[in-house]
Amino acid sequence: MTTNQVLVTGGAGYIGSHVVRQLGEAGYDIVVYDSCVTGSPEAVLFGKLVLGDLNDLDRLHQVFAEHQFTAVLHFAASLTVPESVLKPLDYYANNTRNTLNLLRCCQNFGVSQFIFSSTAAVYGEPGDAPVTEDTPTKPINPYGRSKLMSEMMLQDLGAALQYALCNLRYFNVAGADPGGRLGRTPVRQNIYSGPPVMPRSSAKRA
Ligand SMILES: NC(=O)c1ccc[n+]([C@@H]2O[C@H](COP(=O)([O-])OP(=O)(O)OC[C@H]3O[C@@H](n4cnc5c(N)ncnc54)[C@H](O)[C@@H]3O)[C@@H](O)[C@H]2O)c1
Repeated sequence: MTTNQVLVTGGAGYIGSHVVRQLGEAGYDIVVYDSCVTGSPEAVLFGKLVLGDLNDLDRLHQVFAEHQFTAVLHFAASLTVPESVLKPLDYYANNTRNTLNLLRCCQNFGVSQFIFSSTAAVYGEPGDAPVTEDTPTKPINPYGRSKLMSEMMLQDLGAALQYALCNLRYFNVAGADPGGRLGRTPVRQNIYSGPPVMPRSSAKRA
């Protein structure tokens, strides 16, 4: 059993794949859990890719049972703001309920370190700059609210069970791997054969 085994959800996506690369280069033993609805298997440069959807609680449970994770890094999400306005329940399902699924597994398997890829959309339109961690959160769309609700779940679980938690509230991300292996638009694959999940549109994302 290794002591540095980590689970990365959404590790086949843009940001997650860069994190996986850095974790891999740092010697972590990585399991990526991703449906590849927007991500790509080719973007997973280190570790093992498990194809699965976070809405599949049995599969998720199985993955936790087969490993001994010390930490979870959660990047999987839907992130197109206008789409979240048109299909709010899809966003609460994929971003909030599926985070609940993941947290349930963390609780059941005693994984107490959790890094959550939140978003600056939890601030809404803050007005004064700079925006800090103490700036009030007032999201103005379902995407931002779905993420803020996840943060609240995390906060409550962390308080109850003394978890080590981190919410990353970044603004729009840009950049590519200096080695040219990873960039903004990985090759789209359509190889997941589980329950349908929402495809990404080309509209504004955050
Ligand atoms: N890209 C940005 O500018 C930005 C800004 C702020 C926050 N974020 C957050 O960062 C995270 C990653 O964003 P990204 O730009 O890398 O997006 P992305 O679409 O490239 O990556 C998301 C990954 O999650 C996977 N995924 C989605 N739903 C899933 C599900 N139900 N089960 C399993 N896998 C699923 C996708 O296949 C994809 O690989 C998201 O949580 C997003 O909200 C992104």
